[in-house]
Amino acid sequence: MSTQLEKVQELIRFREEARLGGGEKAIQKQHDKGKYTARERIAQLVDEGSFEELDMFVRHRCTNFGQEKKSYPGDGVVTGYGTIEGRLVYVFAQDFTVFGGSLSETMAQKICKIMDMAMKMGAPVIGLNDSGGARIQEGINALAGYAEIFQRNILASGVVPQISAILGPCAGGAVYSPALTDFTIMAKGISYMFLTGPKVVKTVTGEDVTQEALGGAEVHASKSGVAHFAAEDGEEAIKIIRKLISFIPQNNLEETPLVTCTDPIDRLEDSLNDIIPEQANVAYDMYEVIGAIIDNGEFLEVSRDYAKNIIIGFARFNGQSVGIVANQPKFLAGVLDCNASRKAARFVRFCDAFNIPIVSLVDVPGFLPGTGQEYNAVILHGAKLLYAYGEATVPKVTVTLRKSYGGSHIVMSCKQLRGDMNYAWPTAEIAVMGAAGAAEVLYAGDAKKAKEAAKAAKEAGKPEEAEKIMADFKQYIIDKEKEYNDLFCNPYNAAKYGYIDDVIEPRNTRFRIIRALQQLQTKKVVNPAKKHGNIPL
Ligand code: HXC
Repeated sequence: MSTQLEKVQELIRFREEARLGGGEKAIQKQHDKGKYTARERIAQLVDEGSFEELDMFVRHRCTNFGQEKKSYPGDGVVTGYGTIEGRLVYVFAQDFTVFGGSLSETMAQKICKIMDMAMKMGAPVIGLNDSGGARIQEGINALAGYAEIFQRNILASGVVPQISAILGPCAGGAVYSPALTDFTIMAKGISYMFLTGPKVVKTVTGEDVTQEALGGAEVHASKSGVAHFAAEDGEEAIKIIRKLISFIPQNNLEETPLVTCTDPIDRLEDSLNDIIPEQANVAYDMYEVIGAIIDNGEFLEVSRDYAKNIIIGFARFNGQSVGIVANQPKFLAGVLDCNASRKAARFVRFCDAFNIPIVSLVDVPGFLPGTGQEYNAVILHGAKLLYAYGEATVPKVTVTLRKSYGGSHIVMSCKQLRGDMNYAWPTAEIAVMGAAGAAEVLYAGDAKKAKEAAKAAKEAGKPEEAEKIMADFKQYIIDKEKEYNDLFCNPYNAAKYGYIDDVIEPRNTRFRIIRALQQLQTKKVVNPAKKHGNIPL
């Protein structure tokens, strides 16, 4: 019989053993690859000393392929809870030093346990992924484990925030857990995500592609949009998670944390009175507007490198967290296309699910035309954004800076989509379309006649008369464009009907948004009861 003291010593020994995961050699291998271990990552993520580990003594139960002779305490994942800036979070970190972090039945049970706890307690779940996929020796039990996790991801969606960092391999069906979560952060150089790796790709399509080019951080952050952030390395990825958490609430029933605001709320930004170029087709940088109006210029941009024609991200107004959606005239003239619509729609839905007010900054010339867009279902993608805005019941403040034409005017949080406060700058042009396009449609008959008359004059050997006909027609169109511009390309026509609540001085934008948000704090709108809507996917 051992004494109590000896039992305590034994516990300490067990714990030390568990903390080594797959052992010192495997840890060294992980470090040599430029990667941190699961426990090191957790230490970087949560407040110092706050982590409580669970299930340290869980071991796999597999007996195939001699697995019973090889097991590690805790198996291939470290799970538990801790705090970030004092707020509770649940964490799982796959431990690559144990069977390459591959998912066993027991590992899945550990992950599911903390997901269930997160749901019960109403706190975010953060997953740090670094895994060789399903544990091959366990076969179908590993697959079942994945499915259990996915089911929980689905039920937790819109209830507690879910964040995934990819800090190593994440391949095959394993990619679907991050894909189901709200935000995915990949670390450059060490992480990749794909359904099928380069070898399979080569066999099936003949394509030669590296892991990095197929599913590296930069690829997913810029081309596929699967990753919302591409961090420089694993450490930065974790810093991004901490930052993200600071902007979002614990669950769908809570508000976002209020931060003390050190930036004067009535700060005038004179530069904004002079930022819109004289010519309608000349760009300016929407980042300058965002930076000028938010608290201390602090903007956490989401999906920065994907569909740059729309900007989304988190900022604060008077310490209150908001989601910003802004067209970027500097990129593709701020046009809406398939990718921009999808990107913004998902963000609007996240904000709405988690009670984060949405501030939209509008300068949009329309939807991008062409077969490329139509064949890729721009109709459906545009409808996603329309649906997301129209469905959202959080406070919605919209400021139209310049263009707001046609369908894109409606989509970008217009009054009739239950925009709460819709402001416009004096430079706003809220119309069915731009003047040149409108004149082309309205006077197509006159254009045809003028061309025919000019042709006839030319054929009759009167080239000067032909030239004069065309010059007169050009002037006629200029006059008509001016007429159209005067009538429609301003904010006052929309304001006349109450579609715009007020035309504001650009330098006052910050203050007016803050006032609007303050007013909207008690907003209550409930959508009709239903099982769920049918967003055009
Ligand atoms: C069991 C695994 C494993 C796995 C890695 N290991 N993946 N063990 N099941 N899936 C083990 C390795 O045998 C090795 O053990 C240790 O983990 C470290 O792996 P290395 O190969 O030494 O590391 P590295 O060179 O960095 O390569 C990492 C890797 C590679 C690219 C991930 O290990 C790999 O290709 N693994 C197999 C990936 C795969 O095919 N997974 C199944 C996909 S199907 P020792 O003892 O030597 O240290 C799938 C379906 C999911 O995931 C479906 C969900 C719905």
